[in-house]
Amino acid sequence: IPSFGDMAVASVNVAVLLCVTGMGIGVWTWGGTPVCDKIAEFRSTGSRGPILLQDMQFTEEMAHFSRERIPERVVHARGAGAFGYFEVTNDITQYCKAKMFEKIGKRTPIAVRFSTTTGEAGSADTLRDTRGFAVKFYTEQGNWDIVGNNSPVFFIRDPILFPLLTHAQRRNPQTFTKDPNAFWDFMTLRPESLHELSMMFTERGIPDGYRHINGFGNHAFKLVNASGKAVYCKFHYKTNQGIKNLTPEKAAELAGSDPDYALRDLFKAIEKRDFPSWTLYIQVMSFREAEQLPYNPFDITKVWYQSDFPLIPVGTMVLNRNPVNHFAEIEQLAFQPRNLLPGIEPSPDKMLHGRLFAYPDAQRYRLGVNYAQIPVNCPHNTKVANYERDGRMAMGNNQGNKPNYYPNSFGGPEPDPQYRNNVFKVSGDVDRYEDKDDYVIQVRKFYMDVLNEEERQNLCKNIASNLGQANQTIQARAVKLFNNINFDYGTRIQDELDKLKAQNEKKPAVNGRGVHRGDIHLYDIPQ
Ligand code: HEM
Repeated sequence: IPSFGDMAVASVNVAVLLCVTGMGIGVWTWGGTPVCDKIAEFRSTGSRGPILLQDMQFTEEMAHFSRERIPERVVHARGAGAFGYFEVTNDITQYCKAKMFEKIGKRTPIAVRFSTTTGEAGSADTLRDTRGFAVKFYTEQGNWDIVGNNSPVFFIRDPILFPLLTHAQRRNPQTFTKDPNAFWDFMTLRPESLHELSMMFTERGIPDGYRHINGFGNHAFKLVNASGKAVYCKFHYKTNQGIKNLTPEKAAELAGSDPDYALRDLFKAIEKRDFPSWTLYIQVMSFREAEQLPYNPFDITKVWYQSDFPLIPVGTMVLNRNPVNHFAEIEQLAFQPRNLLPGIEPSPDKMLHGRLFAYPDAQRYRLGVNYAQIPVNCPHNTKVANYERDGRMAMGNNQGNKPNYYPNSFGGPEPDPQYRNNVFKVSGDVDRYEDKDDYVIQVRKFYMDVLNEEERQNLCKNIASNLGQANQTIQARAVKLFNNINFDYGTRIQDELDKLKAQNEKKPAVNGRGVHRGDIHLYDIPQ
């Protein structure tokens, strides 16, 4: 399959071959020098005497080992990835001039990473949590990344709140355990989170692995066609495997018995050539429609109703190659919402703008300033030509003897005006604006019109089993907010909370603190 797979294997293998097995595969070498003995024979003073500092293989091995860890992703640390291709099945050139969409049947190599959001790198795969769904397209015009989730909306709409939202889901600074009070305190003080919360506590909050989830680009983007006409757009992937979720009970059991459940499921499926695939769709909104919409189309806590903005099919994404080396190809993968193509631009979404900055900044820290030169992040289908030079771990030839300043008279790369972005107007006073957008209408519609009776009941039960771990004040605040969405919603949650309380009062105390519900946050523990 002519995909990134081959290129990645080739590039990674070349690096490995050159750096590690200079003497050829099979001979253990150190910087190219063959190793004659290593483990069986101690290099020591007599068989029971001390070892020598001159055993440089020993000191090198120890020193390298102590430096094996790099910072894990500050969010989405736990994940699994694979490679494959995207194939255009429908013509969208009337909306977008990006070359990857230029003709039906055109294939573009891709890398995909799925993740949980709040768990650490070693945490269980079956947490109740939003799943990350990040796709990198290695196009001939550079890399394009859609860094989204398995839910169409997000908790917040102001990027400055992102670190605070994340802290509220992390470990308590004193007890270092997950803290239901912090989680529900934050969520109930920022009620724009209720839409995403309501989705996360349905069955879809604990998917059965990564093959059975949908994906969303979440933000509004701008598509520009060859004549310069622009529309707003949202991206959706629908799983061709069908949606499948785990019950909270099964998820809790797997968290103990098989914490790598989702990782293994993806790897095994690809290994036995049961290649998972997704269909990519877009929703399109004209600038005029955006102005007339009764809600803010650039608010990531809201969906664009599909009845108003129907899904338009674009193509199929297939995953057909597992990583050869997880660290090289998945841990070092660096996605960035700012990796866009000619024909795909940001919309005014504030959250998207916050993210345009955050990702490369995180990757300079996590992977180093030359993170883009790591084989899996290189734009393999085009050439890098700019004036960036040097820095730690500059790989390759560091752009050789090309001029490193601009302007220059010696043939350095030139900007090309044909790639100018779409021109748009902005106006308004620079100030701090209070967030007055509605947070109720779409959640009410989701609860009443999207969910069926059984799903509503399960949602309320799932919320109560988690909210029940927070203190009474926070529980009361949450119920009031859910009541405000819909009286039935709040009442059912309160009923479920009352049931749990009654059950717990009947159970024997653990360590004198009532029933110990553990410090496990965001997945349900059978009561
Ligand atoms: C990863 C920041 C909002 C989805 C990350 C990373 C950072 C970050 C720093 C780690 C990047 C790395 O080390 O490679 C932020 C900030 C946000 C934000 C500041 C808001 C202002 C969102 C939203 C979504 C999202 C709204 C989806 C709807 C993801 C995904 C990853 C990620 C899927 C993992 C990518 C991978 O697999 O490597 N985010 N994020 N983030 N974020 Fe965000």
